Amino acid sequence: MDGRFRVCEASAIGPAIWRLEVDAPRVAAHTHAGQFVVVRATPSSERIPLTISDHDPRRGTIVLVIQAVGASTSELVSLVPGDRLSDVLGPLGKPTELGPFGHCVVVAGGVGAAIALPVMRSLAAAGNSVTSVLGAKTSDHVILHDEIQAACSRSIVTTEDGSLGVHGLVTDALEDLIARHHVDRIFTVGPIPMMRAVAECTRDSGITTIASLNPIMVDGTGMCGGCRVSVGDTTRFACVDGPEFDAHLVDFDLLQRRNEAYRSFERCRIPSGVGDG
Ligand code: FAD
Ligand code: FES
Ligand code: MG
Repeated sequence: MDGRFRVCEASAIGPAIWRLEVDAPRVAAHTHAGQFVVVRATPSSERIPLTISDHDPRRGTIVLVIQAVGASTSELVSLVPGDRLSDVLGPLGKPTELGPFGHCVVVAGGVGAAIALPVMRSLAAAGNSVTSVLGAKTSDHVILHDEIQAACSRSIVTTEDGSLGVHGLVTDALEDLIARHHVDRIFTVGPIPMMRAVAECTRDSGITTIASLNPIMVDGTGMCGGCRVSVGDTTRFACVDGPEFDAHLVDFDLLQRRNEAYRSFERCRIPSGVGDG
């Protein structure tokens, strides 16, 4: 495969979830927590956004953690060391606001853990005390647990089947945390219903709650309008104005509807077996 961005390492870290380390020195030199790249595997591939989960400016590499859910993510996770990506555009988006705020709780679901990890590390480095709440279907679906434990002063895992940590949802653990500890700020990333539930959980208490949104993106530079989201009374483009916004003001129904708009078309392109987990 042609292209400048060589895959240095590729490994599975969970069910249908891969970690790719990619040569991208200019991105690695300038990236901050919360930023993402727009990637194309080949010149004829679709462009998709992926968060920069880790980076090493010295080696000139970035880490992408990719959940195979459809055609483009499956194409990326089939790459092996030595293969090259044709485009890695970034870093894009606004970096996460880091404070210091005091006690921050970072609530992540599924592959959201990979997006949350650099945020946790940077919040801790900025002098915050950081608690993580990591939710997954089962213990097998919990990713980056060791890295997250190392980054945070307190780590809580919830699983829907009770196979690891607290039996239940992230919101069960979050309600308990808020009842027993002072919390200054919450950051959440994961499936839309989860982020919406986290926003509802903190609305009455008024704790500032930031959600990292995942609308459909195409160019990632504010030109196509694909990533339009509604925040309060304003229309924002998540690729340049976000992807992080005040969760209490986000119209999650609109986000969900827009993300499902191309689902029947996308399903025709999915390799068999993908998205079953
Ligand atoms: P498809 O079958 O085409 O789509 C499956 C679902 O993915 C769709 O229903 C839609 O909800 C979403 N999607 C489809 N196309 C896009 C698109 N162009 N942009 C955004 N969402 C899309 N996923 C990860 O696994 N790891 C990450 O670190 C990560 N970071 C992201 C950061 C941002 C800022 C955003 C907006 C999304 C991120 N995603 C991440 C989601 C990832 O971009 C989608 O899963 C991917 O684009 C799906 O492409 P597909 O062709 O494989 O699946
Ligand atoms: Fe095109 Fe944001 S992805 S405007
Ligand atoms: Mg697609």
